[in-house]
Amino acid sequence: MNHPVMQGLAQSTPSYVKNARLIAWVADMAALCKPDNVYWCDGSDAEYQRLCQQLVDAGTFKKLNEAKRPNSFLAQSDPTDVARVEDRTYICSAKKEDAGPTNNWMAPSEMRSTLQPLFDGCMAGRTMYVVPFSMGPLGSPIAHIGIELSDSPYVAVNMKIMTRMGKSVFDVLGVEGEFVPCVHTVGAPLAAGQQDVKWPCNKTKYIVHYPETREIWSYGSGYGGNALLGKKCFALRIASNMGRDEGWLAEHMLILGVTNPQGKKYHVAAAFPSACGKTNFSMLVPPAGFDGWRVTTIGDDIAWIKPAADGRLYAINPEAGYFGVAPGTNMLTNPNCMLSLRSDTIFTNVALTDDGDVWWEGMEQDAPGKALPAHLIDWQGRDWTPQIAKETGAKAAHPNARFTVAAINNPALDSAWDDPKGVAIDAFIFGGRRSTTVPLVTEARNWVEGVYMAATMGSETTAAATGQAGVVRRDPFAMLPFAGYNMSDYFQHWLDLGEKLAQSCSKSGAALPKIYTTNWFRKGDDGKFVWPGYGENMRVLKWMIDRVEGSIQGHEHITGVSPAYNDLNWTGLDFSAEQFNTVTSMDKAAWLKELALHTELFQQLAHNLPKELSETRAALEKRLAA
Ligand code: OXD
Ligand code: MN
Repeated sequence: MNHPVMQGLAQSTPSYVKNARLIAWVADMAALCKPDNVYWCDGSDAEYQRLCQQLVDAGTFKKLNEAKRPNSFLAQSDPTDVARVEDRTYICSAKKEDAGPTNNWMAPSEMRSTLQPLFDGCMAGRTMYVVPFSMGPLGSPIAHIGIELSDSPYVAVNMKIMTRMGKSVFDVLGVEGEFVPCVHTVGAPLAAGQQDVKWPCNKTKYIVHYPETREIWSYGSGYGGNALLGKKCFALRIASNMGRDEGWLAEHMLILGVTNPQGKKYHVAAAFPSACGKTNFSMLVPPAGFDGWRVTTIGDDIAWIKPAADGRLYAINPEAGYFGVAPGTNMLTNPNCMLSLRSDTIFTNVALTDDGDVWWEGMEQDAPGKALPAHLIDWQGRDWTPQIAKETGAKAAHPNARFTVAAINNPALDSAWDDPKGVAIDAFIFGGRRSTTVPLVTEARNWVEGVYMAATMGSETTAAATGQAGVVRRDPFAMLPFAGYNMSDYFQHWLDLGEKLAQSCSKSGAALPKIYTTNWFRKGDDGKFVWPGYGENMRVLKWMIDRVEGSIQGHEHITGVSPAYNDLNWTGLDFSAEQFNTVTSMDKAAWLKELALHTELFQQLAHNLPKELSETRAALEKRLAA
């Protein structure tokens, strides 16, 4: 209690904070991390503006041209701190087998002794921000509360956009409410008088989850999912554990509403690996030939889904904003996103134009002949010109450059996006990124086959995961970096839930959600994508809705059910039956190889692998051999 911050802590704790466990924990963490000050965020706009100004003064933020991009800022990170660090991410369950073969594991006691000296004094010279947040609409039966302690004001302002952050969280928390404690430090204590850098971080990084005690400890990075702990750490890794124990799902899924011209509305949750166009799909603009159809966004990245007594699954988006990949986004690929970013946005690691606006690769590709900017300051603060880019291959924006923007900026925001009840899911989509083998769209014949398809999903990696693109990896349910427990137990949880839902549905007459896989990324002999993607994905989405309605016959094949060419609405798109064949054809030899890779995956996941999945694989093999 001798440290000055401990003496001031009692006075700085707002009178409306009544939760004894929270107060004691903040005191413990302040004693450990030894910040100069503790500041309790209230979530107000005035606070946001004040912290942004502080970041501008510190050189972390650059204020963008107010006339071009009102109330928006650019941050350029340390070049070594640009993405999630999966190899430094740990699930520290009591037993190694509970983390499973796809997660890094360390015994909790060993990790605690590793982290103790790192956190001791880690916030010296800095302020510890207490960031109260609700994942999901405040007070929703599907929502949960977290408190993040962070020495990064960049984190505090991003959390204001990404979550329901602020003092009203304490009303829900009350005296005895539960919260997930999340501690974050950039790991860069300042000695007395030491000048800070623009983007403090540490080359040692630990992103640690203790699933049994539902704690998150993050050290050394200020970037995205490493630091905004509500997102991947809480809403996926810790929440997947909560969901397993309590009978619900925490998924790496966007949620969208799709309304037909007659006004009937459906809801779809879709899992795609990182940076495979989830934000684009969640904000899709239906193309020509789809008059009267509308797609609306509930969430772009994460879904929390709970079963109701009628056997239906209700989903909320636990987040309140989008932390999306900027490069590639333009008025053709995602107009709603571009419109969302017109103001009130934090950009990280994009390039700065000479007139104080932002730019990234692909921004110019929405109109033929659009010129590249003559000069930019790149994401590392260096001069960039088209000539330099040509000579050195230098990117103006980092491939994993991001925007942080509130959901309410999205012109396609669904009216139910903030509904505490959530929305009832009609279909799940699992979409990999595969240049060969996997057809454009396949419907599972039943729940188990759907779980099999999701479990064996493969994808070529992108910059979001590793900063490097192009390597193929299996990414079950798009949850490989995010499942907070043994992957095979996670498959079992899906199977168990399916059985439970089937029982409730047989009583209520409700239908189980249909399960689909998609692959927008098949390439032709010329190495180019064949399917036009983006808004044209509506053609596939409509086929799924037709199937949900039972208004169209499916065509069964070896791996499931797919449309024939004439089952899709082609109005307004020149896409031949031959091209359709290129993206839907089933190559038996390729599938035999694919199946061998499924076997390899199942060998890796052998501990607790549900027998239903091996049986489904065997049935598939038999059909292939026939
Ligand atoms: C993300 C990711 O940032 O999946 O959403 O990496
Ligand atoms: Mn994601």
